[in-house]
Amino acid sequence: MLSREENELLTRVHADQPMGRLLRRYWIPALLSEEIPEADCPPVRVRLLGEDLVAFRDSEGRIGLLGEHCVHRGTSLFYGRNEECGLRCIYHGWKYDVQGNVLETPAEPAGSQLKNKVHHTAYSCIEAGGMVFAYLGPREEKPVFPTYAWLGVPQEQIYIAKSLLECNYLQALDGDCDSSHLNFLHKIFKPDGRHGFLQYEDQSPDFEIDEMEFGFRVAAIRKIAADTRYVRVSQFVMPFIGCVPVGREIDGKLDGFKAVYQVPADDDNTWRYDFFFKWSKPMTKQDSSKRAFVGADYRKLRNLSNNYLQDRQMQKTVNFTGIEEFLNQDACATESMGAIVDRTKEHLGASDSYIIQVRRFLLKAVRDLQAGKQPPGLVFDAAQADFARIRCDIAYLPANVSWRTFFDDKVSAHK
Ligand code: FES
Ligand SMILES: [Fe+2]
Repeated sequence: MLSREENELLTRVHADQPMGRLLRRYWIPALLSEEIPEADCPPVRVRLLGEDLVAFRDSEGRIGLLGEHCVHRGTSLFYGRNEECGLRCIYHGWKYDVQGNVLETPAEPAGSQLKNKVHHTAYSCIEAGGMVFAYLGPREEKPVFPTYAWLGVPQEQIYIAKSLLECNYLQALDGDCDSSHLNFLHKIFKPDGRHGFLQYEDQSPDFEIDEMEFGFRVAAIRKIAADTRYVRVSQFVMPFIGCVPVGREIDGKLDGFKAVYQVPADDDNTWRYDFFFKWSKPMTKQDSSKRAFVGADYRKLRNLSNNYLQDRQMQKTVNFTGIEEFLNQDACATESMGAIVDRTKEHLGASDSYIIQVRRFLLKAVRDLQAGKQPPGLVFDAAQADFARIRCDIAYLPANVSWRTFFDDKVSAHK
């Protein structure tokens, strides 16, 4: 449960709000690379942290992320012409480069200095792993771009499912940090009556949580034999990334995992990016089947307005929800709470302890920033950057081996 003031503090993401200011200090996903696939392709609209923007790729392949509305008189640059290293407004032909410089004002008299007096909103972008990341914060506070392990694998070993969630990002994030829902919301009934989501039947593993400078790491520990424990390590990475150990096991190791970004479009809408990858080999067609669950605008085909096409017969015999696809199941659970759930009315239990910790961590980060402290997990000196150690994994460990020692040793060995 949160107070009304805390709930407001955590959920309001526009630029004039404390959380909006905090989120703007991080590199965040703006869109997929494939949305602007080639030089001089059509621009696309991007709504991010309550701001309307357009993204384009210029003739040299550079990415621009500009305010949607032309600084001359406000026409949308979404309709603009992407030509010769700039985006040109269709109303009077003002042309912008990726840095927001006004290159031409062709309707003005020769010798006009107007273009040198105005500058358009433009944000820095970096492309990695098939996503375009943007930095919307103050220029002088720009951190090192975090080269997480999952962003460094070859593109063919990556698959990203993007979808729009019609609710606040914190609801989605609460879901990522809530492993107890796996045994219910995502349960599939097998012909023998057993559920098939997890390999092991122990439904209440022990959780051990460590606060890290970038967020949290969580170990779910299951006793699977007298002297063997099965350990799965997840991570919460500031400001809204949930990394979970899913995927195939090869020789007792995980072949990749999933990083989920819950990126606020505004207070009431969230861009969810499920970033799957394999360490060992390319994704197959089957791996990337989730694309079919959204339309061209990344809105879900099954959504709140059609009750996710829930099938009550299926709910009796096939799975717990009667809804197809785990992303739709998550969406139903989080969107049906309302755009911003009233957290003063919650009744949290022991199974919600991780959610409580993540909220506390975020609240502290917001309040610290208000008090002038740097946000957690940011790195300003590339020589100090050590992002590759942020990763999920699993292990089968004898009782006398600590998972902390095991994973720390293993991560050191990767360097
Ligand atoms: S409104 Fe864009 S050039 Fe005039
Ligand atoms: Fe889920």
